[in-house]
Amino acid sequence: MAKNSDNFYICNICNTQYKKWSGICNSCNSWNTIIENTNNQNNFQILKQSNKKYPTIEFANLSEEIINKKRLLSNINEFDRAIGGGLVIGSAILLGGDPGIGKSTLIMQVISKLSNSNQCYYISGEESVDQLKGRALRLNVNFTNLHIASNNFLNSIIETLKNIKKIDILVIDSIQTVYLEEVNSIAGSVSQVKACANELINFCKKQNIILILIGHVTREGQIAGPKMLEHMVDCVLYFEGERNNYFRILRAVKNRFGASDEIGVFEMSEQGLQEIDNPSLLFLSDTEHLVSGSSIFPALEGSRPILVEIQSLLMNTSFASPKRSTVGADLNRLSMIMAVLEARYNFIYNNKDVYLNIIGGLKITEPAADLAICASLISALKNMPINKETIFIGEISLSGQIRNVFNLEKRLKEAKRLGFNFAYIPKISQKLKQSFKTDIIKYKEVSNIFELIKLIT
Ligand code: TYD
Ligand code: MG
Repeated sequence: MAKNSDNFYICNICNTQYKKWSGICNSCNSWNTIIENTNNQNNFQILKQSNKKYPTIEFANLSEEIINKKRLLSNINEFDRAIGGGLVIGSAILLGGDPGIGKSTLIMQVISKLSNSNQCYYISGEESVDQLKGRALRLNVNFTNLHIASNNFLNSIIETLKNIKKIDILVIDSIQTVYLEEVNSIAGSVSQVKACANELINFCKKQNIILILIGHVTREGQIAGPKMLEHMVDCVLYFEGERNNYFRILRAVKNRFGASDEIGVFEMSEQGLQEIDNPSLLFLSDTEHLVSGSSIFPALEGSRPILVEIQSLLMNTSFASPKRSTVGADLNRLSMIMAVLEARYNFIYNNKDVYLNIIGGLKITEPAADLAICASLISALKNMPINKETIFIGEISLSGQIRNVFNLEKRLKEAKRLGFNFAYIPKISQKLKQSFKTDIIKYKEVSNIFELIKLIT
């Protein structure tokens, strides 16, 4: 039989399309994942049924009162805060993170708290019931309304759930391990993950169930290959941290019902995750003596200021292209600040390897950290330590000018609360100065890097 020339082949892991079948996918290097696309999805037939009536839609007026969605509080404050003030009833949440970071532990703790007054169902496709029980015992959680199962056949899971009278929260751990019979590819593939998530979200939305999908971040840093689930759910949380470090940060990157840049901070202990309500001091080193190359920056994580320590280390090198390396900071920003220092102020780093580190595993992406990074680089090059009670805030432009940043007062207040007594800040307007309350830290305005160099060296 002649083959339909419109047919093509598709990798069911990464969705790359090919004209011919092949044993290996050149895009994701997976073996035996290329299948023929038999649905002929490219050929759409437009059906014109002039006499068919479709249901109409209704328009609302913006002046109508908004009915606030009901939320469930787990009373694990760091979790409730990250999710925007509790779990919204009927919402779908995706929790992503590296394998082993503590996603199952976090969710087990959260739903055990909620199970005091809600029916919670936890289905794991990764661990046996005994393993789940073992974890629950270790975490000393409440079992009353917590129902656990180990299965990954989604058709059976949905069939079972349909027959349960009351479900308040459903957890699927993880979305990459469940599969639907109708989808012709292996669990964890793009089509399976999409179809399974869709099926679960539809089921839960109809019954107003809170759905929590756990997803592993793959090597590329995305959940299940492409970030395809993010648009399907109401809220996307990422659980971050270094495996060999015990701090964990829960970060909301999307939230249809709240602010999307909130974070929650936890510490992994023998008895599961412990909340850290006051993380400000966590990211500062505890050495008392002054070290050159170290400076403090009040970062803003969501609505909360957190003081972080930035460290630079310089090493002489005889190689033509010296090494520049950052942990927790943006390499491009480091290069830019060094370029400004070299080009405009004759601070020469091109015979040195430069290492920049943010203590404690926090990632800083704000341009407001430029001044602190710059101070740390100057201090490292001149081998002159900076006073430990001083902080730096400001964005640096290519001309060496220091630009203002948002939420300056909030940052200065937090620094004062934690015992810092001096801040270098950008030039600010008279109006802003007057708006500062009296409990603000002492500060000095610096308008360009030249002034900063004079003041700290
Ligand atoms: P887990 O929640 O299974 O991670 P994920 O679901 O993200 O893959 O937890 C992983 C690690 O956490 C595991 O290496 C053991 C450690 N852990 C603790 O240190 N303390 C605890 O109380 C628990 C339950 C786990
Ligand atoms: Mg897990």
